[in-house]
Amino acid sequence: MKIMEIEGGRELSGTIRVSGAKNATVAIIPAAILTDEEVTICNVPEITDTDALCDILNELNVKTSRASGSLVIDPSKMKNGEIKEEYSKKLRASYYFMGALLGKYKEVSMFFPGGCSIGARPIDLHLKGFEALGAKVTKIKNKYTVKADKLVGANIYLDIASVGATINIMLAAVLAEGKTVIDNAAKEPEIVNVATFLNNMGAKIVGAGTSTIKIEGVEKLHKCFHEIIPDRIEAGTYLIIGALCGKNFKVDNLIPEHLDSVLSKLEEVGIDIQVGQDYAIVSNNNKLKHTTIKTAVYPGFPTDLQQPFTVLLTQAEGKSKVVETIWENRFMHIKYLNDLGSDITVKNQTATIEGPTKLNGTTVVATDLRAGAAMVAAGLLAEGTTTITNVEHILRGYEQIIEKLESVGAKITLKEV
Ligand code: EPZ
Repeated sequence: MKIMEIEGGRELSGTIRVSGAKNATVAIIPAAILTDEEVTICNVPEITDTDALCDILNELNVKTSRASGSLVIDPSKMKNGEIKEEYSKKLRASYYFMGALLGKYKEVSMFFPGGCSIGARPIDLHLKGFEALGAKVTKIKNKYTVKADKLVGANIYLDIASVGATINIMLAAVLAEGKTVIDNAAKEPEIVNVATFLNNMGAKIVGAGTSTIKIEGVEKLHKCFHEIIPDRIEAGTYLIIGALCGKNFKVDNLIPEHLDSVLSKLEEVGIDIQVGQDYAIVSNNNKLKHTTIKTAVYPGFPTDLQQPFTVLLTQAEGKSKVVETIWENRFMHIKYLNDLGSDITVKNQTATIEGPTKLNGTTVVATDLRAGAAMVAAGLLAEGTTTITNVEHILRGYEQIIEKLESVGAKITLKEV
């Protein structure tokens, strides 16, 4: 197991550059196998989720090569085959191989995906979408086989605007016969980035970023060059860290429109932010105001930033609330924040934070990726040393987090124990 030791209480100043978006990358890598030609993707983050997906590609006899942020994927000698459970359970996004392999070969066999334990995370909407396109789904224990003689475009209404289901259905539909319409589609920027990638390969998708996506099936996709968008969740995490410990703390290479809800909540609690075309500069303010945050699908406040934002609210005067509406089990970080000195209670899906409270270093656990980010934020603020265990969760999604934070003055040691 890897642990992080953070010497907290230091002022952070300087610039952190945001990497490519994890949640776009993890869909675009599987999507690349929809062509037989070589694709080049740039701004790919060096995170362990990227490694895990490349391992799956290699298992399918797809060649990958990486150099300074770019990833070249060559599926020309690809063979369809069952993806081993040890691979699929490494991350949630392994399920994008379902849509991609079904789209390409009309047949896929794989196990239930892994990922952060933040809720039950069913995949019923993905499977319903595949069935609507003409596939038959068979489930034996936790293994799914999805097969179709041919895929035919259909009108699909999603009961929930699911990011994963929207992307997986797009992947299965781009090579289907005829037109597919996804209604109540999710609108996250990562979905737009995936649709742009598919269109760069010759797909015909319109409406990504709105709640109705239309896909005209094509016969073949071809090689392309594609750039991953900046990671809005990584950017938001660093903005929160800057708001907690920063002085003229610049988060560079972000798309401000992707962070509207987060920037306005930071302003609402009293953080001074200077927003430029592709950056934001924040400084810590000792007098923060309480607020209420309710997570929602994009463009609402992202569930993925709820946990780090809770750390900021421990420093606000009075009673703040965080209402989680997407995941039923995303308050596991609260116990550890309280161990650090915060005063937070959780009832149903709402955390109530009484502040401000002084945080003091202790040993805490990164129970999942964004809980881990919250622990890093809290550790940077806390007096003394905070030891974070299960750091593997954090390394799944934040490229060079230690190097980036050290470059602005943090003191962090990574150890293998
Ligand atoms: C994506 O997960 C992200 N993961 C998550 O980020 C993010 O929290 C989430 O979207 C919401 O923004 C990736 O992109 C890899 P959903 P996803 O399908 O696609 C329910 C992070 O920290 N649902 O939009 O799995 C589901 O239970 C991760 O980077 C069904 O009921 O999320 C949830 O309550 C964590 N049936 C809601 O929909 C389904 O078939 C939204 O889930 C699918 C989803």
